[in-house]
Amino acid sequence: MSYKIIDGKAISDQVKAEIAEEVKQMIAEGKKRPHLAVIIVGHDGGSETYVAHKVKSCEQVGFTSTKLAFEEKITEEQLLAEIDKLNSNEDIDGFIVQLPLPKHISEQKVIEAIDYRKDVDGFHPINVGRMSIGLPCYVSATPSGILELLKRYEIETSGKNCVVIGRSNIVGKPVALLMMQKAYPGDATVTVCHSRTKNLKDICLQADIIIAALGAPEFLTAEMVKEGAVVIDVGTTRVPSDKTKSGFRLSGDVKFDEVAPKCSYITPVPGGVGPMTIVSLLKNTLLAAKKEIYS
Ligand code: GUN
Repeated sequence: MSYKIIDGKAISDQVKAEIAEEVKQMIAEGKKRPHLAVIIVGHDGGSETYVAHKVKSCEQVGFTSTKLAFEEKITEEQLLAEIDKLNSNEDIDGFIVQLPLPKHISEQKVIEAIDYRKDVDGFHPINVGRMSIGLPCYVSATPSGILELLKRYEIETSGKNCVVIGRSNIVGKPVALLMMQKAYPGDATVTVCHSRTKNLKDICLQADIIIAALGAPEFLTAEMVKEGAVVIDVGTTRVPSDKTKSGFRLSGDVKFDEVAPKCSYITPVPGGVGPMTIVSLLKNTLLAAKKEIYS
């Protein structure tokens, strides 16, 4: 089967241009620029790269951004105090705390300390809960980026069998909920598989759409994929490589070379879901600045 690559980079550029246009309009109307703040703790290489991309993307669309970087040794109490400051800073429309955090800080406490009206990551239980019952909310970035790709490529989802591999709070669970909601994209029959699932291969073979979000390099192989399936690869594991300057490369959860020929559509890594996640964060920040979800 000849397959189509879902080009997340091209779509993300397109959405960024749309956001930039809207910001231009807002400025022309005398409104303030949307303002995103990002908290980063410590020096995790992956996190530093993601945060740099987020800040750069803000610039590209005309947002103001503030990066607050703290050393690994910051206490939970100090970090919660910083969050409180952002909660009450009226110039900041939305903010995120980059995860993971050092072990001595409770991620859950941090997430719940963020004012849900500024929670543009969509991690606060109020946003997660509202999403799960189909109310307006901030949807977390990766699931929302996946849905945007399905929409922009006009991929049929209604009545399709969708298998999600992975049950994380950031991707697996929310994308499963979104794919089953009464909407487009959505209306799919969703199965969530995880490390304890039996007969994973047989379940995957029934899938019209597979969303691989388990974080295991090249886990999904050709024998698990039905002819004509749509495969969305959420994996971004850093694996050592002697071919790149940085000494590592990003590996997806899908064995692309053997899976792609069986697919109707497939996302590459990099350049598939990855670029869309930042765009989703920008979209949420724009919604926050316009007070479209919470007044
Ligand atoms: N770490 C990995 N992905 C994310 C994300 O989407 N948001 C935050 N805050 N941290 C992350």
